[in-house]
Amino acid sequence: MSALSQSVPTAAWSDRRAAFALPDEVIYLDAASKAARLIAVQDAAHAAIDAGATPWLTPHAAWMAQIEHTRALAADTLFGGDVDGVAMVPSAAYGLATAANTLPLRRGQCVLVLEGQFPSNLMVWQQCCARVGAQVLAAQPVGQETLTDAVLRMVERTPALGIVSLPHCYWHDGQVLDLDRISAAVHARGSALVLDLSQSLGVLPLALARWQPDFVVSVGYKWLLGPMGLSWLWAHPRWREQGEPIEHHWIARDAGQAWEFPIDAPPPYQPGARRFDAGGISDPLRLAMAAAGLAQLQHWQPARIAAELGRVTTALDAALQTAGLAAWITPGHAPHLTGLRVPAARLEAVAQAFSAHQIFYSRRQGGLRLAPYLTVDPAQMARVVEIAAGAR
Ligand SMILES: Cc1ncc(COP(=O)(O)O)c(C=O)c1O
Repeated sequence: MSALSQSVPTAAWSDRRAAFALPDEVIYLDAASKAARLIAVQDAAHAAIDAGATPWLTPHAAWMAQIEHTRALAADTLFGGDVDGVAMVPSAAYGLATAANTLPLRRGQCVLVLEGQFPSNLMVWQQCCARVGAQVLAAQPVGQETLTDAVLRMVERTPALGIVSLPHCYWHDGQVLDLDRISAAVHARGSALVLDLSQSLGVLPLALARWQPDFVVSVGYKWLLGPMGLSWLWAHPRWREQGEPIEHHWIARDAGQAWEFPIDAPPPYQPGARRFDAGGISDPLRLAMAAAGLAQLQHWQPARIAAELGRVTTALDAALQTAGLAAWITPGHAPHLTGLRVPAARLEAVAQAFSAHQIFYSRRQGGLRLAPYLTVDPAQMARVVEIAAGAR
């Protein structure tokens, strides 16, 4: 355990199921919507609310230290220790708007996204393109093409490719994009790369050195086990000295000991990506919850979590095969996120059977999105498939 997480209690790997506030009878397969709540995060929230009732007991320096502690924990756990690269923002949309505000885009250029991509990573580019006279294009597989092949084809063929903004896995059904190949192709075109990792960070590895993204964003309330309202933005070093935040907040400025804000010009920015810190991120409640989630993640380690969740979804696919439902499997899905491709005529019955058995999931694009976390045992997957197969 790193020194950063020592102030927050963390559960041992062997106690992972009991670490969540979840009744035994619930099979929660909806971590892609919101993480199940860690008891440590719930406790941290209650403690922060209590501390807020006695504000005179929290010195300003301790509050500022809490911000930097949480940032360092995120950097350590998720961004290879690059604390100067990390900014705190309220949502993925906010982080993406920051990227759009900073990255150059000219009239006639294109921004490439995935067809059906999460709207926070679409509408910002629509607005940005409308402003400068650029165009949003979407990669969509043709025939048997994978998502990766579709993106690579578009990267190669699109003239004046300005920005490519993608996830690591598709939010509807977990299909994984090969970011090694995609990032190499994007850089070969001289285009900027933005990654929305809201559905993968905390589970799938982030290869900053290999992929060289310009910006990376992720919400904190899914695979990072934290609260809503505190998301993460990583900025490449080339944007840390010249990037434009979308608002101007005191928290992003170094106003010195005297805390002066002269009329002629604002004080300099805080170092690194802190210039992109949004107003409101200093909320001690969200900071405390985020830190508790990150400390647990750091202790359990994303690679070990991915391996365990891979066992769960492999057990699911094996049970589907055995039940003669191989056609329901999403090929190339991530270890933690998949889609059950239930035929339209049976979808309602399967959905109702799941609800009746306290199996929680999301409906996405005509299928059922299943996103287990460490509360789920691989052995439970046979039961889930039995219930699905029996629903008519
Ligand atoms: C891929 C992806 N990006 C972003 C978000 C959330 O974005 P925002 O924080 O802008 O609401 C989600 C939520 O489901 C998501 O699935």
